[in-house]
Amino acid sequence: MRKPLVAGNWKMYKTPKETEEFLKAFLPFVQNNEIAEIAICPPYTSLYIAHQQIKDTSIKLGAQDVHWEDEGAFTGKISCKMLRDSGCHYVIIGHSEQRTYFYETDETVNKKIKKVLSNHLVPILCVGETLEQRNQNQQKEIVKMQIEKAFQTIKDIGETVIAYEPVWAIGTGINATPEQAQEMHNFIRSLIQSLFNQEVAEKIRIIYGGSLKPENAKEIFSQKDIDGGLVGGASLKPDSFYKIIQSVI
Ligand code: 13P
Repeated sequence: MRKPLVAGNWKMYKTPKETEEFLKAFLPFVQNNEIAEIAICPPYTSLYIAHQQIKDTSIKLGAQDVHWEDEGAFTGKISCKMLRDSGCHYVIIGHSEQRTYFYETDETVNKKIKKVLSNHLVPILCVGETLEQRNQNQQKEIVKMQIEKAFQTIKDIGETVIAYEPVWAIGTGINATPEQAQEMHNFIRSLIQSLFNQEVAEKIRIIYGGSLKPENAKEIFSQKDIDGGLVGGASLKPDSFYKIIQSVI
């Protein structure tokens, strides 16, 4: 049985003080939660304060990116060791906003995943097609290529999570239908089986991201191959994030 994961990707929102306020309001909601694994991925500057507040709870901490080198003259970058020492468990890799605005390529994704795995952190690998690619019915081809390149020369992907996030659904209010999402998740699971083996395919968690809201989460999460969600906008408010977590049942 795969334990569902609901992770909040806060993107460039919330100062350390706002993070503290969010968690003060959110933690009482999830005190006895055993339904899903919960993670929050705040900006780097909030990792320390978030860790202080959640370290004695079951909530996991994640970062939104990492550099593939251990250390060095890389102004503006953060290493795996820094993230681990700040209390992180997860690292989002290859988010479409990184791919679109910050020169992330399948090659840099591959380097980052290798480094994250060797540092005993868990990657959340984001994949997904653009609207133009979907209109040309290329979604499977694109996602296949992204995943094959991300895992190139990697033999053991450990606990890696894959987030299927169609670019056209991110921040647009237009979510993939449960059927569209299920079809892609099923495709990804079969691909993992062919790249690794059946055991890995059955174990890997494939989560959905793109305009998840309390109103659509239940139907999306009820699909067979959907193991939770990566939530952007709706994870910024304690009540809407909690409602999405509850939808996992
Ligand atoms: P939204 O939930 O705001 O569409 O963002 C999804 C996302 O990009 C999560 O990584």
